Amino acid sequence: MEIGSEELPGGVILRPAAQGDADALCAAYVDNREHLEPWEPRRPEDFFTVEGQRIRLEEKLRQFAEGRLVPWHFESDGRIVGAITLSGVILGSFRSAYLGYWIAADRQGRGLATAAVERVCRMARERVGLHRIEATTVVDNGGSQRVLEKCGFEPIGLAPRYLHIDGEWRDHRMFQKVLHDDDPQP
Ligand SMILES: CC(C)(COP(=O)(O)OP(=O)(O)OC[C@H]1O[C@@H](n2cnc3c(N)ncnc32)[C@H](O)[C@@H]1OP(=O)(O)O)[C@@H](O)C(=O)NCCC(=O)NCCS
Repeated sequence: MEIGSEELPGGVILRPAAQGDADALCAAYVDNREHLEPWEPRRPEDFFTVEGQRIRLEEKLRQFAEGRLVPWHFESDGRIVGAITLSGVILGSFRSAYLGYWIAADRQGRGLATAAVERVCRMARERVGLHRIEATTVVDNGGSQRVLEKCGFEPIGLAPRYLHIDGEWRDHRMFQKVLHDDDPQP
């Protein structure tokens, strides 16, 4: 799958994740640990080590090579300042995937998530061959819901106790974006 780089506001680059990112990714997760904690699963201690990130990146890149996941990193001044991922890619007559993302605490509120979600929706259609993207947010994640709304996602319901986030099974709002109505390519 050919996925290129994109320039986002403030000169931030959105590019495919690479195996050499483990050090920078570990630094980003250490710096943003408290910022991300309310919105993510509880992380084991090895998540905050270079080796832990190297192993996780290897698995993501293996799934990328198999066409099941597409991982991007936001890069700025040699730092990783966020990530956005399409996971659970299924083609055939479903052509759907899940969207997840985060932006570093010191880069929020500059339109980065909105610009990246827009680009990823375009690449999902043109490069991945998707028809639909699904995203879910904890009910009180107003910032993430606003990003989805600005990018044309529609609310499709409430999923009670959907994901184990910050130590509890949390209710989530579900959203989808239908990218087009063309027939699937063979
Ligand atoms: C949610 C997140 C990705 C947003 O990233 P960002 O780059 O700051 O997003 P943008 O700047 O593109 O847009 C944010 C929008 O949300 C709005 N917003 C921010 N906090 C909000 C809140 N608590 N309630 C409602 N809207 C909010 C902003 O005003 C902005 O909307 P506007 O352009 O209409 O003013 C970022 O805050 C983050 O990573 N949070 C922690 C991890 C997370 O929640 N990930 C998503 C899990 S579903």
